[in-house]
Amino acid sequence: MNKEQQQPCDASWPSPIVEPMDSVGPVELGSGAGALGCSPEVLSHPSDSSKLVQECLQQFMVTEAQLQQIRASLLSSMEQGLMGQNPASAVRMLPTYVGSTPHGTEQGDFVVLELGATGASMRVLWVTLTGIEGCRVDPRSREFVIPPEVMLGPGQQLFDFAARCLAEFLEAFPVKNRCLPLGFNFSFPCHQTGLDRSTLISWTKGFRCSGVEGRDVVQLLREAIERQGASSLAVVAVVNDTVGTMMDCDPGLGPCEVGLVVDTGTNACYMEEARHVASLDEDRGRVCVSVEWGSFSDDKALGPVLTPFDKALDQGSLNPGAQRFEKMIGGLYLGELVRLVLAHLARRGLLFGGCTSPALLNQGSVGLEHVAEMEDPSSGEARVLAVLQNLGLSPGASDVKLVQLVCEAVSTRAARLCAAALAAVLGRLQHSREQHALQIAVATGGQVFKRHPRFHSLLQKTVILLAPGCDISFIPSVDGGGRGVAVVTAVAARLADHRRLLEETLAPFRLDREQLAAVQVQMREAMAKGLQGEASSLRMLPTYVRATPDGSERGDFLALDLGGTNFRVLLVRVTTGGVQITSQVYAIPERVTQGSGQQLFDHIVDCIVDFQQRQGLGGQSLPLGFTFSFPCRQLGLDQGILLNWTKGFNASDCEGQDVVALLREAIGRRQAVELNVVAIVNDTVGTMMSCGYEDHHCEVGLIVGTGTNACYMEELQNVAAVAGDSGHMCINMEWGAFGDDGTLSVPSTCFDASVDRASINPGKQRFEKLISGMYLGEIVRYILLHLNSLGVLFRGQQTQCLQTRDIFKTKFLSEIESDSLALRQVRAILEDLGLPLTSDDALIVREVCQAVSRRAAQLCGAGVAAVVEKIRENRGLEELMVTVGVDGTLYKLHPHFSSLVAATVKDLAPRCTVTFLQSEDGSGKGAALVTAVACRLAQTTRV
Ligand code: G6P
Ligand code: BGC
Ligand code: BGC
Repeated sequence: MNKEQQQPCDASWPSPIVEPMDSVGPVELGSGAGALGCSPEVLSHPSDSSKLVQECLQQFMVTEAQLQQIRASLLSSMEQGLMGQNPASAVRMLPTYVGSTPHGTEQGDFVVLELGATGASMRVLWVTLTGIEGCRVDPRSREFVIPPEVMLGPGQQLFDFAARCLAEFLEAFPVKNRCLPLGFNFSFPCHQTGLDRSTLISWTKGFRCSGVEGRDVVQLLREAIERQGASSLAVVAVVNDTVGTMMDCDPGLGPCEVGLVVDTGTNACYMEEARHVASLDEDRGRVCVSVEWGSFSDDKALGPVLTPFDKALDQGSLNPGAQRFEKMIGGLYLGELVRLVLAHLARRGLLFGGCTSPALLNQGSVGLEHVAEMEDPSSGEARVLAVLQNLGLSPGASDVKLVQLVCEAVSTRAARLCAAALAAVLGRLQHSREQHALQIAVATGGQVFKRHPRFHSLLQKTVILLAPGCDISFIPSVDGGGRGVAVVTAVAARLADHRRLLEETLAPFRLDREQLAAVQVQMREAMAKGLQGEASSLRMLPTYVRATPDGSERGDFLALDLGGTNFRVLLVRVTTGGVQITSQVYAIPERVTQGSGQQLFDHIVDCIVDFQQRQGLGGQSLPLGFTFSFPCRQLGLDQGILLNWTKGFNASDCEGQDVVALLREAIGRRQAVELNVVAIVNDTVGTMMSCGYEDHHCEVGLIVGTGTNACYMEELQNVAAVAGDSGHMCINMEWGAFGDDGTLSVPSTCFDASVDRASINPGKQRFEKLISGMYLGEIVRYILLHLNSLGVLFRGQQTQCLQTRDIFKTKFLSEIESDSLALRQVRAILEDLGLPLTSDDALIVREVCQAVSRRAAQLCGAGVAAVVEKIRENRGLEELMVTVGVDGTLYKLHPHFSSLVAATVKDLAPRCTVTFLQSEDGSGKGAALVTAVACRLAQTTRV
């Protein structure tokens, strides 16, 4: 495959003839019959023709006012594009997911595939980045000419061609068993949704392959590479050539924050403030935006400068009506414009003695290289003559100058229009950075810059004119952006690596249906054993609550609610009109929860006395219900032996004691206080009773707060520990301890192990430590520390604050996962913790929170599914309708927890219709109701 074959007829020019008018007569486009040979009207005196030629070229003159108009109109169309308003004239302003200019730290070998920048050729590069210390290694590259039928054929053919070129190129490199990151330099307008996800909007320049527009070009390339069997390549980034050019800028000289390409096509990118890009949910930092100014087509601005030659060129192009601005600047079109003008002037007898040639009438026969050569002051007349003779023309002496004038007119206009567009970008930068005096480095790339002798200087001069407040340094890209693409690929490879490490870290948290169903079965087995009094991690404690409220309860009751986030004392008034509650929250300082039992219960009595005084209940001995949310073996309604503390409580001399007795002793120690402790209930029971008062189907109580647990109404005959085989008994499952005997098959991650090791009850409450609020924040903290140590988070910088236990509150999960919270608010929460984070970090932290809370909710759902299925089977029902009364901060505040629990129950217990009823007044009311039922039963037995 060699470059030369392509020259004579260029595939980018499909159709033959169109007739635009101008002061010097019709413009004829393509090859075909008729116009060949010489036109009769040859002007007698050369000066006339030069005047007429000047007149014709006058059309290419763009005044400063017109340039300012174009600059202003392009600027407003850029702002419309940024705000996501896409009227036809707006330029697309496509975010590229490149968030920072190169740090220079990037290292490694990268393969770069360039497609689309330089017309009918594809380039493959091997780029070695050596980081800050290493010395620069020049990329090695090879160019492959793309056959016209491939540029216009089926997309698969193009991508297979690319894959073959890659394979051929890599034969010369040591790639055996290496996975090489590949950066895809794809120079066409694309909607990017990630560094490696990019959908082609429309082909431009000489390309029009079928079956690609609207498709993810990375996917298409990956599929082609797979078909080619080049498994050593991993496509990790797709980059627009302007971005590659900008990123290629040597940080020492730049960093460049604008990338400008004028090659076959033209375009620019620049670093915009992320908060100005409506399509991005981002308010901090910058993002590189590809302007795609080639499609700028505001008639008011461009109309006056469009010539009949432009219209003729457009109509003869592959994409008529599109890329109007590009067709006045891009290298693919400059030659064609010159050809059209030359052909036109020749026909008018103003050039070449009125003679044309097949080549002159053949579209695409005059290329950028011809224009550049003919304009090159160093190449002199001889070269111009040679070029024209090559086109089959026999130019006269005066023709050379006139032809050069035509070239100059076309390329000067191109440079000035390009300058107006660049000035618009600089204006946007001045605006978005609120800097009038802008110092900026612009990276330039592309054949027009490389080959055209005057384009760069013309552009520079004009920009300075149009953007006076800007101090611009132009930095030509060394190797056409290949290195820049490798830098982006290095960043993408790092991010892809981070993604892989994140997936590996979070994979054990992603439980599938099979695992959850296994938990349900294991819980059922443990429930059955616990009920039979056999060894089981589920103690299945009888609560001596035999019935849920029936609404006939009446009276005033005191209630205590200990074991959740807050300790509360409540006065509960149960009347025909319903239940009125007055309550007071009291703090239980850590020195008390970790102190002696006597201290704890004295503190409780102090609070009761304080409450009685506040409520004017002095001297009244109201029946009291005690919600004590810890595992107790109850011997009766008012006798509960504390089995072990949980949730951070560790008061001494309590475990193994009857806590009702401990309370009564404390009351006894306090003079002049009389209290009648009637019942001790677990918070799950209190919650069930409290909700049961509203909904009589409520037969399950669920707590997901600081701790977690569930209770339900079991058939008495199934409760080995309690005599009787009719009726029901509420069973406190104490499911927090589920799996403490190793029967829980859910994988325990190293993070769970760290949380357990650091807890005051290692090896205990396994299920609780996977689910409840006291632990989720800590699990997340350990994961963040791990990801930080892998360099995935916070750029691997040590984060002291994350070393602090409990610094990552579980409530942060609820906040960070809330859909209404934009990323910036997530970042604010984390920055308040003193974490130095980027937006990518905030996204990763959110994903970690989601994985941890999702696992917790699903496990909780598997537990509830086991309970409701047990009740259904107990009653031999096909279908069961049951309500679960729920309380607990995590369940109530987390944005997705409750729906995930419900979804898991629905999936694992399809024959149960389960309603989750959130308890409004907490379990204190439930404790009062249990007390009321006990008092009512006591009364009926007394009479
Ligand atoms: C409510 C109930 C308490 C229960 C608590 C659990 O407040 O009234 O009895 O212990 O919820 O949730 P928490 O998030 O406070 O631990
Ligand atoms: C494409 C741009 C590209 C430019 C320069 C245009 O036709 O739409 O994406 O950057 O050419 O290659
Ligand atoms: C306790 C249970 C309680 C649950 C919810 C667990 O730690 O062992 O008794 O129901 O927390 O508060």
